[in-house]
Formats: sequence, structure tokens, C-alpha cells
Amino acid sequence: MMFGSNTLGNGWVLPADDAAITAAAESLHGGQIVALPTETVYGLAADAHNPDAVARIYAAKGRPDFNPLIVHVPDQRSAEQVAIFNGMADQLAQAFWPGALTLVLPLRENAPVSRAVTAGLPTIAIRCPAHPVMQAVLAKSGLRLAAPSANKSGGVSPTRASHVSAGLGSAVPLILDGGACSAGLESTIVAVREDGWQILRPGPVTAHDIETVLGVAPLIARTGKIEAPGQLASHYAPSKPVRLNADTAEAHEWLIGFAGTDGNDNLSPSGNLAQAAANLFDALHKADASDARAIAVAPVPDTGIGAAINDRLARAAVR
Ligand code: TXA
Ligand code: MG
Repeated sequence: MMFGSNTLGNGWVLPADDAAITAAAESLHGGQIVALPTETVYGLAADAHNPDAVARIYAAKGRPDFNPLIVHVPDQRSAEQVAIFNGMADQLAQAFWPGALTLVLPLRENAPVSRAVTAGLPTIAIRCPAHPVMQAVLAKSGLRLAAPSANKSGGVSPTRASHVSAGLGSAVPLILDGGACSAGLESTIVAVREDGWQILRPGPVTAHDIETVLGVAPLIARTGKIEAPGQLASHYAPSKPVRLNADTAEAHEWLIGFAGTDGNDNLSPSGNLAQAAANLFDALHKADASDARAIAVAPVPDTGIGAAINDRLARAAVR
């Protein structure tokens, strides 16, 4: 199959028009992987039911195979065929889907999902994304799509098609370019249990948003055990050292500014946290590609989505 011109030097990068969406759906049916935008970050998608296709995701990312994947669905009905929803899960899906929320729920017995997707866990992470390109590919293919962020394991997530082609290159045969992601941070992951809920990864939907819908506080974080490898201390890391809460740059540093603290870049000159979230990963990719030996980042307030920004920055700073 021909996928048009190779615009960025590696990988097939196509504007996400109808022809490209059809080509993507065909590729996915054929067991291939496709990179495509969601409103959070770009994902690397494969048919969640096809073990060979799922294995291609792990191979392209260099991902340890204990790390399970999020399954993307067109709607809650499709999700209910693979996951068991209790009342809270139902309320959260009603309130936040389609959108930047992933639910970790009990896996349905004999669910049509490859075991490699859940890495053998009794639960499954499931998300109904809002991005029109992802929704179009879900509709056209009729598949449930396993999709982690489309970056090398442990690296900075991609928020533009060019980040995907630069990071994964020819390991991805087709990349749909849908422009920059509007949220810019990975989805909030919430585990819903019989006795309550718990955030496993902070994201665009805040704990406050969730508590407002459910009317109950989260369970106390369980100690020690890592449930989402996004919780590993070092993750989302650029190749260079990262120093946080910097007001000025040292000579060898690239400073990512925020609000009144200007640098080589500024996440949001006006101090808008949603804008800072949308720009964060692009800023880290740019800093990594610069001549500077190290990266410094200005302080970002911890309120609202600032908590998710600081979560990613803290992990980016651990080497
Ligand atoms: O915004 C997003 O969530 C993006 C887009 C593409 O949807 N995806 C994403 O996927 O960030 P990934 O694979 O990079 O991160 C998924 C996280 C991992 O930390 C994984 O460990 C966790 O979800 N996860 C998956 N299944 C889980 C499960 N059953 N229980 C706990 N954590 C799970
Ligand atoms: Mg990731």
C-alpha cells in the first residue's frame, strides 16, 4: 500500500484526512501499528485483540512487557464488553467521556483483549478519547485499540507528529498528523474499586473534578506497590539533566520559563496552566534537541492541572 510522501525523513507522516484514516483502519486490521493523535498525546495504536499487533507496540517502544496498555474505545458500550462498570465507574464515564480520563476497572472474563494488553492483570485500563481523528479511526476500523503514548519507553511523550517521527522513526510505518494535542498531558488514570476510587496518574481531569462528580474523597493512596509504571520515579525523561524551580539559567542550561520567568522558551507568558500543560512536552523536546547541556525549568504553581505538570516535571528530573 502507498502512503504518500515521506515528509519528515523517517516514517510515513500523512495529514489525517479521510484517505489517511481509511489507510490507518486497513493497516490496523492487517495487524500493523499506527501512530495517531488524541487530545492528550499521540498514541501508538494496534488492534487490542491481536497479540502479534500488540507485540509490535512493545517492540517499537522498547517497552518492558510488565507494563500494561490503555485500550481505547468509541463509547462506553464498547468498554462494557471488556470491563466491568460499577456505579462510580458509570458516573465517571458519563461525566468525562469522551475525554482525558482513563478508568482502571475489573477485566471481564473472556474479554476479547490480548493478554499482552493487560500484562496478565485482573484489571484493564480503558479510555474513550474525544479527538476527532482517533474517533474516526475507531469508527472506521470497528476495533478496540490498545495505545500507549507514541514514544520510546521512559521518554518524553509526543504532542506533535514530528515528535513521533523523531522518536520512533521507521519503527512506525504510518503516522497520522492531526496537529498539536490540545491538552498536552497524558490522561488522568483512576482506579475504581468496590470501596472507592484512587488516582494512579494525575492528568487533565483533576482529583477535584472527580470528587465533585462522585461526592466522595479518594481512598488513601496504598503504600509502596507500583500500580501504574507512569508512577515510576523516572519517566517522561529527556536525555539531559533537568533542574526544577529555577528562576534563572546557568550558562550551560536551556531555561523553560513560565509566566513572569522568561527563558529560552515560556510555557505560558500569561501564566495560564492549561496552556502550559499543552506546551510542556514540546518545550522538553525542544530543550532536548538544543545545544545546551542541561535543562532548567521555572516554578509552576501546583494548583489545578499544575499538579499534573509538576508530577511530569518531577519524574523528568529523576535520572
Ligand atoms: O493520554 C493517554 O493516556 C495516552 C493516550 C495515547 O491515550 N496513553 C498513555 O499510555 O499515556 P501509556 O501506555 O503511556 O500509559 C498508560 C499507563 C501506564 O503507566 C500503565 O502502567 C497504566 O497506564 N496502566 C495500564 N493498564 C493498567 C492497569 N490495569 N492497572 C494499572 N495501571 C495500568
Ligand atoms: Mg507513556
